[in-house]
Amino acid sequence: MIVVQTVKEMQELSKKYKIAGKSIGYVATMGFLHEGHLELVKRAREKDHIVVMSIFVNPTQFGPNEDFDQYPRDFERDRQLAQEHGVDILFYPSVSEMYPFEQTTEIHVVRRTDVLCGKSRPGHFEGVATVLFKLFHIVMPDNVYFGLKDAQQVAVIDGFLKDYFFPINLIPCPTVREEDGLAKSSRNVNLTAEERKEAPILYQSLREAKKMSEDGEYDADKILRFIYNKIEQSISGKIDYVEILSYPDLKPIKRLNGQVIIAIAVRYSKVRLIDNIIWTIG
Ligand code: PAJ
Repeated sequence: MIVVQTVKEMQELSKKYKIAGKSIGYVATMGFLHEGHLELVKRAREKDHIVVMSIFVNPTQFGPNEDFDQYPRDFERDRQLAQEHGVDILFYPSVSEMYPFEQTTEIHVVRRTDVLCGKSRPGHFEGVATVLFKLFHIVMPDNVYFGLKDAQQVAVIDGFLKDYFFPINLIPCPTVREEDGLAKSSRNVNLTAEERKEAPILYQSLREAKKMSEDGEYDADKILRFIYNKIEQSISGKIDYVEILSYPDLKPIKRLNGQVIIAIAVRYSKVRLIDNIIWTIG
C-alpha cells in the first residue's frame, strides 16, 4: 500500500492507472476506521482493479460549535487496517494541501438539504459537496462507495454527480451495525457507558416503525408519533429530528408510498447519533 500526501502525486498515480485501463474504486473517509468503512473497501476490492481510500477530517463540513477538534483520529491504526483490508493507495492530505488558499468559488447545495441533518447542521452538506468535488477530481474514480448510514449524504452526492455529469458510478452500501443493532460510527467512542447501553433503541424503533407499515399503517404522522414516544420514554439523549420522507428526493410525505426513509438524530452529551431505515412500500 502506498501512502500519498499530495494532490499532485495522487492525480499522477490515477492518470497512470487510467491510461493502463485499470478501474479505480474509491472510499472517502474521515478515518478512525471501523467495519462500516472496511465493508466499503471490501466491495471496492471485489469490483475494481485499484482501491483508493482517503482519510481527511474535512473542516468545512463541521459547524463552529461542532466536534471537529473532538473528532477521533488515529492514523497509525488506520494505516494498518487499510493495508490489511487491501487498500492500494491511502490518500492522506493535510488541511493546507486540500484548502491551499481562500476559495474563489463555492458549492451551494440547493435540493435535498432543507430536511434532516441539512436543517440542523447548516452548511454541512456544502462542506461535504465541496470536499468531494475536490477529492473526485484528485482521485478520478470510476466507482465510489458510500454508506447508507449517511443516507442524506448519498442523496446529495447522487444529485451532484448527475447535475455535473461526473463520469462516476455511485454505489450505496448498507449500514454495518454492532450486534445489538447500533450503527457503527467513529463517533460511538464518545458515548458514555450509559448512553452506549441505550443507543440501540434508535434502530429498534426504526425497525418497529417499518413493521407498522408492513402491517398496513401508511399514515406518516402516526408512525412518527410512535417513534417519538418510544425514544423519548427510553433515552436520556435529546431528539434532534425524526422524519419520514421519500428517498432519494427527501420530500415530506403524509402517506407512505414508493421508496421511503425514516431517519433519526439524537443529541447526547458529546456526540450526535444518526440512523435511518430505507425500504420500498408494497
Ligand atoms: P465518514 O463518517 O468517515 O464515513 C466514510 C464513509 O463510511 C461514508 O460513506 C459513510 O456513510 C460510511 N459509513 C460510516 N459508518 C458506516 C456504517 N456503519 N455502515 C456503512 N457505511 C458506513 O462520511 C464521511 O466520512 C464524510 O462526510 C466524507 C464523505 C468522507 C466527506 O468528508
